[in-house]
Amino acid sequence: MSLLSIRNFSVSIENKEILHDLSMEVEADTLTVVMGKNGTGKSTLAYALMGHPAYKVPSGEAIFNGEPIVGMAADKIAKMGMFLGFQQPVEVPGVTVVKFLQTATRALNGGELNYDIFQEELLTVLEKLGIDQSFLYRYLNDGFSGGEKKRLEILQLLMLKPKLAILDEPDSGLDVDAMKVVAEGINMARKNGTAILLITHYKRLLNYLNPDRVIVLADGTLARDGGMELADKIESDGYDFLTSRIS
Ligand SMILES: Nc1ncnc2c1ncn2[C@@H]1O[C@H](COP(=O)(O)OP(=O)(O)OP(=O)(O)O)[C@@H](O)[C@H]1O
Ligand SMILES: [Mg+2]
Repeated sequence: MSLLSIRNFSVSIENKEILHDLSMEVEADTLTVVMGKNGTGKSTLAYALMGHPAYKVPSGEAIFNGEPIVGMAADKIAKMGMFLGFQQPVEVPGVTVVKFLQTATRALNGGELNYDIFQEELLTVLEKLGIDQSFLYRYLNDGFSGGEKKRLEILQLLMLKPKLAILDEPDSGLDVDAMKVVAEGINMARKNGTAILLITHYKRLLNYLNPDRVIVLADGTLARDGGMELADKIESDGYDFLTSRIS
């Protein structure tokens, strides 16, 4: 059984259908890459799976860990073990990073939090990601640089240890060193047993990872399903091959 099974999935926002008849599977312990032109519906897929109330699913189903999740609230889906790393992380003035992480960890652990274990783990992960401890006491994403926001998403991923992490462009806006840190974080998450659904535009990050599968969306549905050769093709030729008859 797949960890995530998406079948004939359609998503609309404000009565506009963005995704249609999308079917795909994500297996446990794998890294699946989702590519596709701007505006083709990649973030829409991520939000819809995570239960964002503005994204309606008029038809189709998504089965996560054996349970249908369409219509379920985001916090329930998170408790089942799904995580979303945002393309544009939200700023939450008033909530410190450490408070946020404690609250999320406690919520996912049935209301329990062992402070000593949490603290020890947090310090280890901060060090691995090269994040200064002072970040813990800043408000969530408030005034963070683009790269700092992306590191923080990876920090959450490593602390919360989901079954499936949907990472929406974790590489956008990163310098070369930060890209390596994010890649290392993703590889660490895989060692924790987290399956990854990684949305990206570029091969750069994939060079540090070992994707099991690359799928390409076009016009709101699945256009190609393959391996790294698809990322190579997109890198060299762009997306024209999707519409060309001789592809
Ligand atoms: N709240 C909204 N209201 C209206 N249209 C929306 C809304 N959210 C998304 N869309 C539209 O849905 C389409 C898909 O957007 P989405 O963000 O999923 O694309 P994407 O594949 O993630 O693109 P990118 O690569 O630029 O991140 C776009 O045409 C976008 O304008
Ligand atoms: Mg997007």
